[in-house]
Amino acid sequence: MDRTYNDYKNLIEEHLLDFLPNVDNKSITLYEAMKYSLTAGGKRLRPVLLLASCEFAGGDIYEAIPYACAMEYIHTYSLIHDDLPAMDNDDLRRGLPTNHKVYGEAMAILAGDGLLTSAFEAIHKDMMLYFDSAEKMTRRIKAAYEIAKGAGCRGMVAGQVSDIENENNLCSNEMLEYIHINKTGALIMSAVRAGLYLGNASAKMLSDMERFTECLGLAYQIADDILDVVGDPEQLGKAIGSDAKKQKNTYPSINGMEASVERLHELTEAAVAAIAPYYDNAEFFRNLVLELAQRQN
Ligand code: IPE
Ligand code: IPE
Ligand code: MG
Ligand code: MG
Ligand code: MG
Repeated sequence: MDRTYNDYKNLIEEHLLDFLPNVDNKSITLYEAMKYSLTAGGKRLRPVLLLASCEFAGGDIYEAIPYACAMEYIHTYSLIHDDLPAMDNDDLRRGLPTNHKVYGEAMAILAGDGLLTSAFEAIHKDMMLYFDSAEKMTRRIKAAYEIAKGAGCRGMVAGQVSDIENENNLCSNEMLEYIHINKTGALIMSAVRAGLYLGNASAKMLSDMERFTECLGLAYQIADDILDVVGDPEQLGKAIGSDAKKQKNTYPSINGMEASVERLHELTEAAVAAIAPYYDNAEFFRNLVLELAQRQN
């Protein structure tokens, strides 16, 4: 695995619009609204993880592109809906006005719906190329299942529900972790597991990487919570103080800043330990989790 984060990211960005369905003149606004949020920028963490996991398992990353782009479509939809007035009510995302600020709430809801369904359209279109190989088809079905599960009612949507239901109400650490693991960890887990299935990983690699990714997913949201307090809005491309304004349960609001930073580092070390059996082969993932613990955006 000699590729860098930016190699994977560039490949994704090259193909990111390929899976938006062709639209006629009557649905051009929908297309524009979906494209607006997809091309606004973003770290592309989930698709990068999918491609890197596929390659780590020995798979061909070019075959994984539709699944990687589908992950970014689903993540982008989750951000558009997360920013809506009925949810976090934010005005800035990826350095630009949020989708509903530009296209209105109704169109932002529909752009999210469009991205979510386009993700599964892309995946199923790819699967249809493999009717003649049960083995290749099986790997793809497993990947698709992981993506649907992580995005849905046993993953991201469930986490968002608890995030909203617990606003204005200081929750337990158990509930806080449930929220974080689901609203953010679940899609990150889907990306890794889908990539591993596409690359035909062993059961041992799947379980080692699952442990790594659990730690990474929770650490990623703790860092997001920390940055919402001490981050630089310019670098983040979104406002800070959004969590306090909505009285959200976050790692710092419940445990304080010092304990949050400590937990972030503990999780980072645990993630590194989970992939120790792979020595230099897992260097990409080791560097990634170490860099994400220091991230400023
Ligand atoms: C923001 O996600 C919301 C979370 C789930 C933490 P990212 O921090 O990955 O946002 P982008 O994709 O880089 O904009
Ligand atoms: C977002 O968590 C989780 C999802 C979008 C699923 P946040 O609400 O903390 O994300 P930001 O801070 O708005 O990016
Ligand atoms: Mg939110
Ligand atoms: Mg938010
Ligand atoms: Mg946040």
